[in-house]
Amino acid sequence: MKLVSAKTMLETARKEGYAVGQFNINNLEWTKAILHAAQEMRSPVILGVSEGAGKYMVGYNTIVGMVEGMMETIGVSVPVALHLDHGSFDAAKACIEAGFTSVMFDGSHLSIDDNVEKTKEIVKLATAKGISVEAEVGSIGGEEDGVVGSGEVADPEECRRIAKTGISMLAAGIGNIHGTYPDNWQGLNMDVLKEIGETTDNIPLVLHGGTGIPDAMVREAIGYGVSKINVNTECQIEFTKAVRTYFEAGKDKVGKGFDPRKVLKPGYDAIIKVVKEKMTLFDSQGKA
Ligand code: 13P
Repeated sequence: MKLVSAKTMLETARKEGYAVGQFNINNLEWTKAILHAAQEMRSPVILGVSEGAGKYMVGYNTIVGMVEGMMETIGVSVPVALHLDHGSFDAAKACIEAGFTSVMFDGSHLSIDDNVEKTKEIVKLATAKGISVEAEVGSIGGEEDGVVGSGEVADPEECRRIAKTGISMLAAGIGNIHGTYPDNWQGLNMDVLKEIGETTDNIPLVLHGGTGIPDAMVREAIGYGVSKINVNTECQIEFTKAVRTYFEAGKDKVGKGFDPRKVLKPGYDAIIKVVKEKMTLFDSQGKA
């Protein structure tokens, strides 16, 4: 199956009351693990690429080639969208050109007027090619690949305005942050989420910072219209933990245990486990 836009998969998820996971990719192992997990779970999936990860993987064209080649060879038959995560205006344009099927333009640091205007420009370019667009209001807290957000709670009126620009999905800050949550975290602001859901005409809502949110809170958020949940840090932590265990057990010193394919295998397996658990929690398994 060819890469698809995230629009239809998220509208269906919103209607049917589940969420599709966006899992960020960092390299070949990450991509392969997520595609295999999605295929096995019969779940739609979104592969997220931050600008930093885009540079690391030698540019957007390289990523499109890798993902498309892998999907064909694996025989992936579930819907997969390739999505730019927290993109600048220029990065969004570059990904639209390179063959991504979904882009996020993150104008949350701009005034709402400028955010609306710039988002409209990206929507125009993307829609002409059938590409979905995510916008953001009220920056998500924490730090991800150098993009630092202060963790605001979005204004539902600003959400209403940006939802009318023709975007396919909306990320609104509701106390969520990237990375792990501090012990004194207050949790997601469900009152604001509910209000945003009511003022944005059933547009699929996006929950960033999917690592470490208690399961019950995730389910409650899905009930209020969250249809896309982004997970990155948890895969990184579990990958690194598994590779560390391999070294600590001295397995790299046994036979050809130094072969990088053997070294990375426990990390690869760990990502598959996290992704499958999340697909079960988000209830997207069996939906493709
Ligand atoms: P976490 O790294 O906290 O899982 O968040 C990922 C994310 O929101 C990507 O945009």
